Amino acid sequence: MEDAPSVLVVNGPNLNLLGTREPEIYGTASLDDIKKLIESRAGDYRVKVIFFQSNSEGAIIDHLHRHLDAQGLIINPASFTHTSIAIRDAIASTAIPAVEVHLSNIHAREDFRRVSHIAPVCVGQIAGFGIDSYRLGFDALMRHIGISESR
Ligand code: DQA
Repeated sequence: MEDAPSVLVVNGPNLNLLGTREPEIYGTASLDDIKKLIESRAGDYRVKVIFFQSNSEGAIIDHLHRHLDAQGLIINPASFTHTSIAIRDAIASTAIPAVEVHLSNIHAREDFRRVSHIAPVCVGQIAGFGIDSYRLGFDALMRHIGISESR
């Protein structure tokens, strides 16, 4: 796997509390469950996953800057989705193809969640399927960057 393409999976604030955080909205799976799901899927495509979570905007930006050679990015920016021009600019600056994912359907919740500053610099957005949003996002990203399961 040393030479395998690498894909970043980045999670924003409060997602470290998944499992116990508002389970009626976000479900009962933990961030570690999401990591395992993605790592298993990544194995099917023979890509390396670099999984990361931070509650800090700057740490997320620094992480993206550290991995400019990544082939793709899955990002759940959490509440930074609705506030962060800085993360948006970082994604645009890296030019890494990105897919925005959300556990909940942000378009069916409070008005302030309907705005994503991140989506315009992403290939697309997947929201509302719980942890399956990550798997669907990952499959869509692989297809977008031209990596198939059977290579
Ligand atoms: C979230 C949706 C955001 O609005 C919220 O701030 C989160 C989680 C989701 O995955 O559904 O923290 O990104």
